[in-house]
This record gives sequence, C-alpha cells and structure tokens, in this order.
Amino acid sequence: PQVCWLSPEQTAGKQKPYMYTQGQAVLNRSFFPCFDTPSVKFTYSATVKVPEGFTAVMSATSWEKQKDNTFVFKMSQPIPSYLIALVVGDIVSADVGPRSRVWAEPCLIEAAKKEYDGVIEEFLVVGEKLFGPYVWGRYDILFMPPSFPFGGMENPCLTFVTPCLLAGDRSLVDVIIHEISHSWFGNLVTNATWGEFWLNEGFTMYAQRRISTEVYGLPYTCLEAATGRALLRQHMDATGEDHPLNKLRVVIEPGVNPDDTYNETPYEKGYCFVSYLAHLVGNQSKFDAFLQAYVNRFKFQSITADDTLGFFLEYFPELKEKGVDSIPGFEFDRWLNTPGWPPYLPDLSPGQQLMRPAEELAELWAADGLNMEAIEAVDITGWRTYQLVYFLDQVLQRSPLPEGNVKKLSKIYPKISTSQNAELRLRWSQIVLKNNLEAEYGKVKDFLHSQGKQKYTLPLYRAMWGGSEATRALAMETFSATAPQLHVNVQNYVKKILGLGGAE
Ligand code: BES
Ligand code: ZN
Repeated sequence: PQVCWLSPEQTAGKQKPYMYTQGQAVLNRSFFPCFDTPSVKFTYSATVKVPEGFTAVMSATSWEKQKDNTFVFKMSQPIPSYLIALVVGDIVSADVGPRSRVWAEPCLIEAAKKEYDGVIEEFLVVGEKLFGPYVWGRYDILFMPPSFPFGGMENPCLTFVTPCLLAGDRSLVDVIIHEISHSWFGNLVTNATWGEFWLNEGFTMYAQRRISTEVYGLPYTCLEAATGRALLRQHMDATGEDHPLNKLRVVIEPGVNPDDTYNETPYEKGYCFVSYLAHLVGNQSKFDAFLQAYVNRFKFQSITADDTLGFFLEYFPELKEKGVDSIPGFEFDRWLNTPGWPPYLPDLSPGQQLMRPAEELAELWAADGLNMEAIEAVDITGWRTYQLVYFLDQVLQRSPLPEGNVKKLSKIYPKISTSQNAELRLRWSQIVLKNNLEAEYGKVKDFLHSQGKQKYTLPLYRAMWGGSEATRALAMETFSATAPQLHVNVQNYVKKILGLGGAE
C-alpha cells in the first residue's frame, strides 16, 4: 500500500505515469526494510534509476543527477522512517525563494509558481525567529496528483501537497505554514509512539497559528482557529465525546493500524492543551522562549508527553511549585487520559470582528421568512475565504434550513456555490446534502471526482450515506466511478462507510 502507481489518466497532465510514496504512519515497511516506528531515527541515502523522461525527488538534504537517469539522494540528519518519501514522474521545478522551489507536472508549474512566489521565505524566517534554526537546508514544495490523500505531508526538505492548494489567491496557504511548522515539531522533536500523535500535530497547530499571527495578525488567525474548533466539535458530535479516541494519549493495541485512529483530537484538542500551557505561563514571549528551548532540548530525538510536560515544569519551576499539573479539572493527567471536550479553550474573541458578521448573516439565512432586505445589505464580495468558510459552517450547523432558503442562497452567492476553492466546495457540498438540494448533487459528484483528499472525501460519504435514498445512490455511483483513483487507505475507509466490507 505504500507505493502508489498512477496511470497517465490519474495525473494532471494525463500523459505519463507517476509513482509516489506515503510513509506516515506505518506504510514505509512495505517500501524498504526498516524499524518502522517513530521512536527510531537514522540517516539514509538512496540511488534511484528512472526511465528516460522522468525525474525522481526524495525527502533528502542533497540531490544529484548522474548519467543514465540515475539520481542519488542523501539525508544527512537523522529522521524517523515515516519521513522518507519518493516521487517519480514527469515533474519540473521553479524557484520561489532563496531556499525554496515548487515542483509540479509541467501543466501546473506556472500556477504553482504564481501561488507561492516570494511567500515561503517569510514563513521560514518567522519560524526561525520563533523556534530556532531551520536545520533542513532547503524547503521545497511538491504539488501531487489530485488523488493525494492529504492536504499536506511534511516530508523533510520537500513537503508534498494536494493540488487543491492552487486556489489562485493564496487563500489556502495555512496548509503550507502548517507543514513548515513540522520542521520543528514532528520532524525535529518527534512523537515516540503514534499513541501520542498530538505531540506532532497539536504543537504544530500551535506553531502554525503563532506564525500566522505574526504574518497575518491575530483576528485572521483566530478566525482560522475557529474553523478548526468547529471541526473538533463536528468530530466529537459524530463520535460522542466519550469515545476513547477523543483523548490526547490514545491506546493503540497491537495489530491496530495507527491510521485508523486518525481524527481531529490530536490537532485541535492538542492545540488547546498547548494553548493552556501558554496560558499558565501567562506571557507570550516567555512561552515562545520555552518552545525554542524545548526544540533545542529534544531535537533529533523521539519523546513522550511525559518528557514534554516534565521539561515544561523544569523550565518553569515556579509553576511546578504551584502544582499547575494538578489543578482540579485541568490536571495534566486529565488532559492526556480523559476523552472529551477540552477543559480550556483559548480566547478567539480577537476574531470576532470577522466572525460576527458571518454569524449574523447565517442567522438571517436560517430564518423562516427570509428578510431579503437585510440579507442584501450585507456585502460579502470582500470576504476572505476563511470568513466564507466560517459562514458556511454556521449555515451547516443550522441546516436543514427552511424549504427554499438554500436554493435562494445558491443563486444570490455564485461566488460560493460555483467556487473552485476546495474548502468552499467541501462546505457547499455538505450544505447541499444536509438540505437535500437535489438540483446540485452534481456538484458533490464533480468535487469528489476532482480530488481524493481524505478529509474532504470521508465527511461527504458519511453525509451521503446518512441521508436519503437518493444521496445513498449518489454515494454508490460516485464511489464506483472514482474508487480506482483513490489512495488505498481512503478506498478502504469509504468502503467501511458504505458497508462494503472495508478496513475495520
Ligand atoms: N502529517 C500530516 C498528514 C498525515 C497525518 C499523514 C497522519 C498521514 C497520517 C500533515 O502534517 C497534516 O496534518 N496535514 C493536514 C494539514 C492541515 C491540518 C493544515 C491535512 O492534510 O489536512
Ligand atoms: Zn500536521
């Protein structure tokens, strides 16, 4: 399952085949012999011979093309097995910064360069200022074929991303900031076991939002964090708060694939816990300094949450003295081992100036007799993508809306209902399904045909399967047409949703 072989039809250019690997969490054992656990780190080198007309790239610190289409790679820093990655395809590159270039199929390279030219370096510089030196040399980005199952994957030196990020307006750049943040949290300081995945993802969400705050300001960053919180809410509503996966420290029994435990908790509850630690410290620059010391203390190592929290208390002896690890209701042990909604939520009110108009507008659209005058008085033409996303999440929460409202909404806001932006298409599809807007089922289908990201695909199949006869038929029809294009993991998860006997 590790190595994905794509036919020409499954690429953007549709001319030549393509292969890529995806290691996280435990897939690389089917690629090369290894200790396939994040607790072991090693350097590697590789020699890859490819057919004429193809290029090979890897997550390596050095890269050299020799004669006979042979590429030699070396990773000079110790990394865990899951971070080794290889792509072979008809790909080309373009510089977008002093230590960054984009890689893509020839037909996408111009769009890729335009989307990220001149912006990556700023993120790296802010990251270095906050968290310490960037040790990986280059930071390049590879745009993957549409079936790539993730938004982004932090392969060192060479992040892999979905082509959905090519929105034309840089609106989805938070994914890049997220993957850059893994350069410190995850790739330098690594969770020793997949049961403590929040050490990778929760710290990375925190780091991502620190960089975002520096570059884009607090209001915008709080808005983005609010959409993250909404995802956590949806996840906990769907599974029940008490679900054992809704803890930060997950028990993964022998034989269970860690990928099957994947959900929003390590990301957003993890973010809340790191924010809580910052709140205990009570001073942003002191907490930033702690994060830098933490990276420095544990770089190139694999650690557990006990190491993290032990270091926190050691670094802030006055907090240790006060017993902050055992404040009733907020015990570190509770954070780690009790499922459920986070006991502490960071204050996102600086985002209110962007969120409130979206909430008010959603309220207007949820009313029984629509007040069109009030609705038309709100001008959404200048709203940023995440403000629209937040608005749509609010509409979804209130759905199904009274008969006819969504149809009208679709007509009034073509900017939303005909958008090519993947985050908007996901929300619009969810609204269409929740409101049984049959006239627009085609949009759900088109979106699922256009890409195969797991976080877009599974919620839509869940919604279709949980809906009417008609949406169930839509699910079956769409899956039988697109299954061969999906990553095998995603295929299995969809099968499970549709009761087709996929992975448990
Ligand atoms: N490392 C993850 C992707 C991943 C997780 C792959 C688990 C395999 C197993 C990556 O950093 C990630 O979290 N990507 C997110 C980005 C988002 C949170 C901005 C994604 O793909 O949606
Ligand atoms: Zn991540």
